[in-house]
Parts: sequence; C-alpha cells; structure tokens
Amino acid sequence: MPNIKEKLYEKIVENRDRVSKLVKQHGNVKISDVTVAQAIGGARGVKCLVTDISYLDPEEGIRFRGYTIPETLEKLPKVPGSDMPYVEGHMYLLLTGEIPTEEEALELADIFKERQQVPQYVCDILRAMPRDTHPMTMFSVAIASMQRESEFVKAYQKGLSKYDYWDSTYEDGINLLAKLTGIGAYIYRMKYRGDVIISPDKDLDMGGNFAHMMGIPNPYDDVARLYFILHSDHESGNVSAHTGHLVASALSDMYYAISSMINGLAGPLHGLANEQVLRWIQGVMDQMGEKVPSDEEMKKFVWDTLNSGQVVPGFGHAVLRKTDPRYMSQREFCLKYLPDDPIFKYVDSLFRVVPPILEEHGHAKNPWPNVDAQSGVIQWYYGVKEYEFYTVLFGIGRALGVISNIIWDRALGYPIERPKSVTIAMLEEMVKG
Ligand SMILES: CC(C)(COP(=O)(O)OP(=O)(O)OC[C@H]1O[C@@H](n2cnc3c(N)ncnc32)[C@H](O)[C@@H]1OP(=O)(O)O)[C@@H](O)C(=O)NCCC(=O)NCCS
Repeated sequence: MPNIKEKLYEKIVENRDRVSKLVKQHGNVKISDVTVAQAIGGARGVKCLVTDISYLDPEEGIRFRGYTIPETLEKLPKVPGSDMPYVEGHMYLLLTGEIPTEEEALELADIFKERQQVPQYVCDILRAMPRDTHPMTMFSVAIASMQRESEFVKAYQKGLSKYDYWDSTYEDGINLLAKLTGIGAYIYRMKYRGDVIISPDKDLDMGGNFAHMMGIPNPYDDVARLYFILHSDHESGNVSAHTGHLVASALSDMYYAISSMINGLAGPLHGLANEQVLRWIQGVMDQMGEKVPSDEEMKKFVWDTLNSGQVVPGFGHAVLRKTDPRYMSQREFCLKYLPDDPIFKYVDSLFRVVPPILEEHGHAKNPWPNVDAQSGVIQWYYGVKEYEFYTVLFGIGRALGVISNIIWDRALGYPIERPKSVTIAMLEEMVKG
C-alpha cells in the first residue's frame, strides 16, 4: 500500500497533465464576465479560482471532494467507540480525493503524533503577550513565530525546481497541522484555566487528544472531530481560504500563509461571527434574566439590532441560498445531546424568527442561518464559555482545507495571484452610452 505522500504524488502527476491540457488547448474559453457591481462588490460570483478540495453549491451546500457532509461523516472511518470519524481520515480525503481505509487514517494519525510537540519558544512567546490579548492574535502570532522551521524555505534557498515545491510545502503543512490543536489548547488553558497546561496523550487521535488537552470529558472528543471536519473548507473564495492561497501564491511559506488566513478569519463578518452570536445572545439574556424570550420578544431584539444598523450575526451568506448544512449537522447534534439547554432554545428561537425578518428587511440575499449561528452553543454547553476562543476552533478546522489547497497550488504550479484594478474614472468611461 503506498503511503499518503506516494499516493499524493500519483494524483499530482495525473492532475498536472489535466491542467496543462486545459490551459494549452482551451486557454481562451471564457468562463465568467465581470460587471461593475461585481468589481465594486467584492468579486461576488466571479469565477476565477480553481480548487478540487471542495465545492459550494448555493442550494445544496458544501461537498468535500464530491461528498456531502452526511456522506463524508458516514463514509470516513470512525474512531472506535465514537460517533464521529477520524479528523486525520478527513485530511487524507481532502489531500488525495479518496476515502481512506482505517489503516490509512491511522498512518496519518501516527505522522501527526510524531510531529505534535509545540516548541518551547512558541509557549514563551505566548506567555510574553499581555494575557488579555485576543486568542486569535495569539494563535496567529504562534503560527508566524514557527516560520523559522519552514522546510520549503530551506529547500528554496538551496535551489529548488518548481516541480518539487509541493514536497517541502507538504512537509510544512503536516508539521504545522500536527501542532495546531496543541497550540489552541495551550492558549485556552493558559488564558482561562488557571494556566494549568495538559500535555498531549500519544494514544489519542487528533480530536480525542484535543479534548484531553482542553481538559474536557467526552463526548467533547466527538464535538472536536465534528467541528474540525465541518469547518475544514468552503471552497476557495471565502476570506480565510482565499487569503491563504493569495499569500502562498507569492511563495511565502505555509507558516506565513496560515498565520495570514487566521487573521482573515478573525473578522466579525467571517469566522468571528461565532463569537458575535454568543455575545449577542448574552446581551439578550442579560435583558431577559432567567427567562427564555417568547418569539414576539425575540423579534423585537432582532429588529432593534437591524434598526441600529448592525448585522444579525450567524445569518446570511455570500454564496449559500439556503440553511447551511453545517448548521443542520450541528443542530442535529444539539437535538441529540442538549435539547433542553437554554442557549440552544435561544438559537432555536432565532432559527424561527430571523429568516422572515431578514426577508421583510429586504437587504440580505440569504436570510438563512450559517455555520456560526449554531457552533457556539455546543461549546458553551461543554463548558467553553469564553466565546472569544471560538474562532480558534474554526481556525484549527479551516487549516485542514487551506493547507490542502496550498499543497495542491504548489503541485499544479499555480502562479502568483494578480487581478487587475481600474479607477473609478475608468469605470465611468466604460459605462458611458
Ligand atoms: C456573511 C455576509 C458577510 C455575506 O455578505 P454579502 O455577501 O454581502 O451578503 P448580501 O449580498 O446578502 O448583502 C446584502 C445586504 O444585506 C445585508 N445583510 C446580509 N446579511 C445580513 C445579516 N445577517 N443581518 C443584517 N443585514 C445583512 C448586508 O450587510 C448588505 O447590506 P447593504 O446592502 O446595506 O450593504 C453577511 O450575510 C453578514 O454580514 N452576515 C452576518 C455575519 C456572519 O454571520 N458571518 C459569517 C458568515 S459564514
């Protein structure tokens, strides 16, 4: 049985040929037009990125390597005694496009275990930062600080053929991914759990080990597995994935690229929305005391938010035009494990009242909830009540997809990204007549 790197190389050779034929034989075929509204409006809907790792259909939602979320969760090998698959198996799928056997998932799990030790200097840097620094800032700095370890940089400086870029990029990606759960748990325990750090357990898979290092009993291991898999990728145009791709396109190494993608994820319109949802719900709870608001009362809170010019966090999407299937998977989890939780009741009430209000409000193209509307409530239930930490969890998951994409970008020789800009005066000239 070939190991994951050999399997990856077989696929790379196959796909290099496909891409080269497309460019040589059909390079002039038009796949997208750009309107003035799209140029000013954040390139929404402009088809100009290529990835096979995942595809987001507006009506159906995400497919990872062609598999829907339920199919992915069903087909990937499961951790014994658990409802959820190995995160390592999901990484195997994203990288190679094939569902791994249990043996193949475990082989990757072993590689991660060998490389999981977080360097002491990273801990020292985190400790040198003011303790009230946002966890996303800490996470980004910790990742950037390891740039000195880059295998790609070492190989590049010795003189590297562009056909071999992918190899050391793969090594950087796996080295970094192996440490992300440890860094996340370290930040959490240092900031919020009396600075009592828990060492990794080499017998556990990535999700199980993360729950262990966070100090939270099971089924938090399954929560971690579900989170990392659901948040892993959402095709290439979202801010975090696109930032990772863009930065890496300059041949900046994996550490620079992933630290940058984390910075993009930290915006409230993107990954930070999961923190904002809990912050918003807490605001409502403060006003309601112990009582769960009626739907009528909840409607008033939602309208107050809209009328004050703010967005309702956790609702709307740039591509999706239905309820996010990532929301639905987490909702199913909540219905199974925490149906009576008071915050779940709030989230459920928002699911009923917000979409008709956003439709009446008439601005958002998609009134339905996205992944962030549901994710915080699960964390809260299992004791992670420090909601500013939630986006770090999103970041660990998103790294799976962005790292896979960057390895493939290098393998297929995608060039430095450089769209063209125009001035407002040029646009005015173009629209005349
Ligand atoms: C996700 C999001 C950034 C997508 O933005 P987008 O692609 O520009 O969305 P739309 O095209 O539907 O936006 C059209 C208008 O509706 C508004 N809108 C979109 N979602 C909204 C929401 N949840 N609450 C209030 N207004 C919203 C936009 O701000 C925009 O307003 P404008 O015309 O005054 O500029 C947006 O829906 C949003 O801000 N949602 C809340 C934050 C969030 O949950 N982010 C996580 C996304 S996974």
